[in-house]
Amino acid sequence: MRALICESFGPIDQLRVQEVATPEPGPGEVRIRVESAAVNFPDALIVQGLYQVKPALPFSPGAELAGVVEAVGEGVRHAKVGDRVISFCGHGAFAEQVVVNARQVMPLPEGMDMDTGAALVLTYGTSLHALKEVGRLQAGETLLVLGAAGGVGLAAIEIAKQMGARVIAAASSEDKLALCRTVGADETVNYTSEDLRKRVDALTGGQGVQMVYDPVGGDYTEPALRATAWRGRYLVVGFAAGAIPKVPLNLALLKERAILGVFWGDAVRRDPATHLANMQQLAAWFTEGRIHPVISERVGLDGAQDAIQRMAARQVKGKVVVHPHA
Ligand SMILES: NC(=O)c1ccc[n+]([C@@H]2O[C@H](COP(=O)([O-])OP(=O)(O)OC[C@H]3O[C@@H](n4cnc5c(N)ncnc54)[C@H](OP(=O)(O)O)[C@@H]3O)[C@@H](O)[C@H]2O)c1
Repeated sequence: MRALICESFGPIDQLRVQEVATPEPGPGEVRIRVESAAVNFPDALIVQGLYQVKPALPFSPGAELAGVVEAVGEGVRHAKVGDRVISFCGHGAFAEQVVVNARQVMPLPEGMDMDTGAALVLTYGTSLHALKEVGRLQAGETLLVLGAAGGVGLAAIEIAKQMGARVIAAASSEDKLALCRTVGADETVNYTSEDLRKRVDALTGGQGVQMVYDPVGGDYTEPALRATAWRGRYLVVGFAAGAIPKVPLNLALLKERAILGVFWGDAVRRDPATHLANMQQLAAWFTEGRIHPVISERVGLDGAQDAIQRMAARQVKGKVVVHPHA
């Protein structure tokens, strides 16, 4: 089979499409023909050796996919050959076939296309978990989303609107902010040309926001934390800007603010029942036309390396999906 291969941790442009052996499923595993796999920011980190997980070399990046089960290992009960499924696999999805633990496989929701299925699990799963389990966002509260036109950012906007919140979307360009408005953002801030804190103050009558969703980090974190209201909650989701910010803790004391970490992957492992319920909620919202994952580009395996590179360079909106058989 053909696969995008990482032979050593290093620059993204070292990734190459190669012919490799088709993997066989062991006990408890299934092999899936990958129809669609989505690009996520962690793909850029994992191939450089900068992610918390370092797979054995060589490996294929690609953390989530949709496809068809084509072989099952011993002892697998809840998936069979021919099933249309979605899966979070961590890595391995940028390949024509992938072997995953059968427990990580779910049926593709009724009426959902493969591209949407591939693009839903990681970003929407993360954002629903963050806003519901970690932040406990309430209807009527105001949420500030940083990096709002990215994968988890757009998902956070759509989910927060379903939860009844008012959403302020912050991003780096006017076309990114226009996209945020199309998925439901009530207000926008261009944080490269406007003062983030002052603009949020103006939009909230000086009160600040009840919650911040921060997948970006870097220089945006401190002004965003300062823009939270009394007992505001600050969700630490990621560090796409590269730098892990260090904030003065008096900012937490002064307004009884809470700084809350989000680690979706571990939360799924610790509480699979809640993850399942969240995926069912997302599937229902999709079927009812309430959420619309934005797929901005579709590429073949040969375009996957470039897509990962552009994501790392802040040049992608929404999700890019890879079609390994195109
Ligand atoms: N905690 C968890 O469980 C969890 C789960 C999934 C993902 N994450 C993390 O969440 C972050 C976002 O993931 P994603 O898939 O949504 O990525 P993405 O689609 O690339 O979005 C990230 C956004 O960050 C902004 N950004 C600001 N400075 C940047 C820079 N120097 N380089 C790249 N982007 C920059 C960009 O928006 P602007 O250009 O508008 O600023 C971009 O749209 C990543 O750090 C990822 O590891 C965490």
